[in-house]
Amino acid sequence: MMTEQSADPFGAFKAMQRAAWASFAPIETFTTAPAARLVRLAGIGDAARVLDVACGTGVVAITAALRGARVSALDLSPALLERARRNAEVAGLDIEFVEGDVEALPWADAQFDVVVSQFGHMFAPRPDVALREMLRVLRPSGRLAFATWPPEGVVGRTFDLLARYMSPPAGAPKPAAPAAWGDVGIVRERLGAAVRGLRFARGTMLMQTLSVTHARLMHEATIGPLAKLVEQLGNDPPALARLRDEYEAILADAFEENCLHLEFVMVRAEKAG
Ligand SMILES: C[S@@+](CC[C@H](N)C(=O)[O-])C[C@H]1O[C@@H](n2cnc3c(N)ncnc32)[C@H](O)[C@@H]1O
Repeated sequence: MMTEQSADPFGAFKAMQRAAWASFAPIETFTTAPAARLVRLAGIGDAARVLDVACGTGVVAITAALRGARVSALDLSPALLERARRNAEVAGLDIEFVEGDVEALPWADAQFDVVVSQFGHMFAPRPDVALREMLRVLRPSGRLAFATWPPEGVVGRTFDLLARYMSPPAGAPKPAAPAAWGDVGIVRERLGAAVRGLRFARGTMLMQTLSVTHARLMHEATIGPLAKLVEQLGNDPPALARLRDEYEAILADAFEENCLHLEFVMVRAEKAG
């Protein structure tokens, strides 16, 4: 009999992501400020029922709950959810944190007033499936808001670099490019008639670092897909050295006065109907 896991052609890819993202917690220092921007753009206030998709350590979920929202949050990584629960406890908040996959949200239809995702749903391998799920659990006229990295920006270019070096799990189909969710034209097309009032905003995330090499080392220890690739290239030192050089060359374009200045895109829309 076919299990749910084997029915998902991306089961192995997601298992890899689940393990790879486990060390992301230190990066919450940098994603905390953009979380406040996204919560403001989403218009989250008192008593709204909010879902934070791919919540990581809970920076968006907690920011929303501190503004009075009733929040649920979901992520693939149990290690990050453990940290998220601890963060909520420190803030004195009661948030529902659930382990799961954005492509199969464990909530009934139309449960939420707002669905948000910061640098998260973009990693689902099937954009149409992730979007369908996020809209399904959103009530009609509810707000969808997310932040992503544009393909032409420094983070988008590193995704492109990783995709050139990465070999997907054997026999698995190719996942969609995450940074396509940061392309305004593609976002318009994907959301289409399912939403109205679509708007875009931009922001810059600062990442303090002494040099691009310090940043690259920090990323290798924390950014799931990069950490996984460095592990994969462990038996090919020349390729690993090339990857590291190319990675640092991209970061250099964003490095100024001891910070990486990383531009992101935010999207907000209302569910049609
Ligand atoms: C860059 S982190 C962002 C975390 C958090 N939203 C933040 O802004 O700090 C990406 C997150 O996406 C999660 N993720 C990746 N694929 C996912 C999927 N299919 N379903 C749910 N979460 C996923 C990872 O576990 C990770 O926590």
